[in-house]
Amino acid sequence: MDIVDRIVLTEDVIQARVKELAAEVSHDYSGETISLLCILKGGLMFLTDLSKHITVPVSFDFIGISSYGDSTRSSGVVRITKDLEESIEGRHVLIVEDIIDTGLTLSYLIKNLTSRHPASIRICTLLDKTANRSVDIPVNYVGFQVPDEFLVGYGLDFRELFRNTPYIFVLKPELYSGGSNPA
Ligand code: PRP
Repeated sequence: MDIVDRIVLTEDVIQARVKELAAEVSHDYSGETISLLCILKGGLMFLTDLSKHITVPVSFDFIGISSYGDSTRSSGVVRITKDLEESIEGRHVLIVEDIIDTGLTLSYLIKNLTSRHPASIRICTLLDKTANRSVDIPVNYVGFQVPDEFLVGYGLDFRELFRNTPYIFVLKPELYSGGSNPA
């Protein structure tokens, strides 16, 4: 595509790491059932691929949380756009995210979910961008550490497009005005 500056993570590399993470998760949750909690919309591709390789029972639920407007920078404004459908009380919750940037989204979410009394909460993110972290987040599973660049694909969007790209790429800089994270 002519919007691609360069590919950062190929489909093969992503899929291999997803399988490794799923094996780690399956081992850690041996004998348990996991409530996989997907953060919309970016976490969707990761959730579907990860869950295919998890060998313990899992349920899916979805929450919409937005910390960004239609821009390339965090607004710091976090709000629930769609709540969970199932109770998580007494459940082992594994939050599945595409990327952690400032950490504001997860900081808010963890506080919110903790008040619902789950048995446990852990975090699994495909990408961890620590350069802009403004709150400390306990991340249990990380696919890849990534630098402070505008990444698109495999769930990450540019103006709501290109989430379906099976690889992760850096957008051509002339296509956006600055910032580092997909909106
Ligand atoms: C992105 C990403 C995370 C959040 C991370 O979501 O999917 O949820 O930002 O940023 P933070 O650590 O700075 O809070 P976004 O709000 O862009 O929504 P989307 O998943 O629908 O693209």
